[in-house]
Amino acid sequence: EKGGFEHFMLKEIHEQPKAYRDTMRGRIDESGKKVVLPELKLTPEQIKGINKIQIIACGTAYHAGLVGRNAIESLVRIPVETDVASEYRYRSPIVTPDTLVIVVSQSGETADTLAALREAQSHGAHVLAITNVVGSSIARDADDVIVTLAGPEIAVASTKAYTSQLIAFYLLSLYLAEVRGTQAPEEIAQIIAAMQALPEQLDSMLAKPEAIKAYAEQISKHEHLFFIGRGIDYAVAQEGSLKLKEISYIHSEAYAAGELKHGTLALIEEGIPVIALATQEAVLEKTVSNIKEVSARGADIMAITHEEHVAGLLKSVNQVFAIPKTMPLLTPALSVVPLQLLSYYASLARGNDVDKPRNLAKSVTVE
Ligand code: F6R
Repeated sequence: EKGGFEHFMLKEIHEQPKAYRDTMRGRIDESGKKVVLPELKLTPEQIKGINKIQIIACGTAYHAGLVGRNAIESLVRIPVETDVASEYRYRSPIVTPDTLVIVVSQSGETADTLAALREAQSHGAHVLAITNVVGSSIARDADDVIVTLAGPEIAVASTKAYTSQLIAFYLLSLYLAEVRGTQAPEEIAQIIAAMQALPEQLDSMLAKPEAIKAYAEQISKHEHLFFIGRGIDYAVAQEGSLKLKEISYIHSEAYAAGELKHGTLALIEEGIPVIALATQEAVLEKTVSNIKEVSARGADIMAITHEEHVAGLLKSVNQVFAIPKTMPLLTPALSVVPLQLLSYYASLARGNDVDKPRNLAKSVTVE
């Protein structure tokens, strides 16, 4: 049942190229230049009338929502708010019939997310669910559903469900951009082509886990570490940090790289591991200057970046892990993978129960 893998988590990490292909299948037209989402009831008129989007989810699904916000805002230019579901209802959210609410849930059964969905509907909002389970409560109650085709996810730590949610967000953003005319057709075609290259790029990364495994063994001896990044690198940092905590039990924090010096830099001391995500060209120099801040305090830094920046970064960090080149918007679909492997191997090195971490359940049906 684990298909030759030692744990479900590792099997599911390796199923991601297939999950990407399956989630894209039938949603890109034959020309390869347009996204089609025939399942959506949301009409072009409704799409043109949306004045705000709220993305609501918990945990890893929330982290997918952070990347989704970035994709929607940059491609569609509609303002997007993100909320963790357990907070949404209690902040008297401003939600009207012109708000599109997107709930994200692998299981489709998370109690807080379901309650948020109902709250949004009670204000007349159209609720679109991104879920991995067709017959789930959230899929049934939502006004629209985009199903991720990741296949069943057994390990408590979510991997392929998260990355499939990213694919769903990219598809949805491109579709909204087509309908609202916010991106040139050539731009859309270029992003689609880059998305179609992702599965193979993932395969090439999954074939070479050795460097990450060795680094995981190194950090498994630590009790605290930091993840830093800017923009979507920060969103991925948050997911990497959650994954590491939940299965390796190493305490970690994800920080927007520029925010460290506003207090947390006090915690950086000799030898503390810092994982820096530095994939975003537009802010690379800024991230490098933050890397220098921690490096000057003796941090042991590992950077995740594209091949072309490896040499430059090696001037300020101890180790670099290169990911294949894709469009800036799509990097989370690749850059999260070394972090998933890092948590997996760190958990393994610590002798933990990788697939069933302590205190956690796969589906959280209590509020
Ligand atoms: C972390 C993890 C959780 C879930 C969260 C939401 O690896 O799996 O943080 O993402 O409990 O679950 P769903 O997506 O089923 O609503």
